[in-house]
Amino acid sequence: MNKNNHKIFITRNLPERGLNLLYQNFGDENIKIYEGETPIPYEELLQEVSGIDALLCLLTDKIDAQIMEQAGPQLKIIANYAVGFDNIDIAEATRRKIIVTNTPGVLTETTADLAWALLMASARRLGEGERLVRASQWAGWNPTLLLGMDVHGKTLGIFGMGRIGQAVARRALGFNMRIIYYDINEPKLSPDIKATRVDKETLLKESDFISIHCPLTRATYHAFGIEEFKKMKRTACIINTSRGPVIHEEALVQALNEGLIFSAGLDVFEKEPEIHPDLLNCPNAVLIPHLGSASVETRSRMAEIAAKNIIARLNGQIPPNAVNPEVL
Ligand code: DGY
Repeated sequence: MNKNNHKIFITRNLPERGLNLLYQNFGDENIKIYEGETPIPYEELLQEVSGIDALLCLLTDKIDAQIMEQAGPQLKIIANYAVGFDNIDIAEATRRKIIVTNTPGVLTETTADLAWALLMASARRLGEGERLVRASQWAGWNPTLLLGMDVHGKTLGIFGMGRIGQAVARRALGFNMRIIYYDINEPKLSPDIKATRVDKETLLKESDFISIHCPLTRATYHAFGIEEFKKMKRTACIINTSRGPVIHEEALVQALNEGLIFSAGLDVFEKEPEIHPDLLNCPNAVLIPHLGSASVETRSRMAEIAAKNIIARLNGQIPPNAVNPEVL
């Protein structure tokens, strides 16, 4: 039990599995949860963090030097409820000896499932078909209605061959696809994946589908702009389940409208929840609201992991998912 009365602030109501662990370890009186349904306003977060020992936050919360300063020197851990952590100033946290943790592993297969759903939907024009049927505009079977692209036997290009990229590659094997990938590092591929590492140019030119799975960094910001789209096949589809700013949204709109590529399947956007207004009018874009890890089981496991990281850190142990372990 929490002999030190450690204070924890959680920026949104999370699945019980994680919250119960925290209540059991630290007591209800030491845990405060922001009850809003939308991200906590920055100014309110600033007030709430004052004096806390642990912050459990979401990818929608910008955690910068000011938040860390306001929290105070007793802040020991920032546990992000996501695998991506581009919302947190890691260098600043490290400088202040604050451990940052994420939730890797548990959402790999769930996110790969969603990437695959987007790939299929954008190849076979499911969004357009659904809209047609719901608008009662379907006039019956037609030999040329909504013709899409075959998926089986094609070339899948994976941009970022980490855990999620490899899980997507594994799904492609069932569709008899050739798999190529681009990654700045040479990843250790699991032996069941047959994939060839190529340069970015080759990935752009040879892929029928490009699925993005890199983290958002300075190097990957706007990695896909108009020059990249011009190099892609006119029949290609691009899928993004990583972070919105990896794609230059305005350039994507141009590429979709001018037929530089066939379609896009997007789970993430440059300025979520805002979406470029012209993208909303592109019939060949399948757009969904950042659902990568959104399954009942996975969101529950993510809450458990975030809680376990906090419990370990506040008990003086090494949290299992530190992204800046050099602090310890
Ligand atoms: C993550 O964990 O980074 C995902 O984007 C959440 O869905």
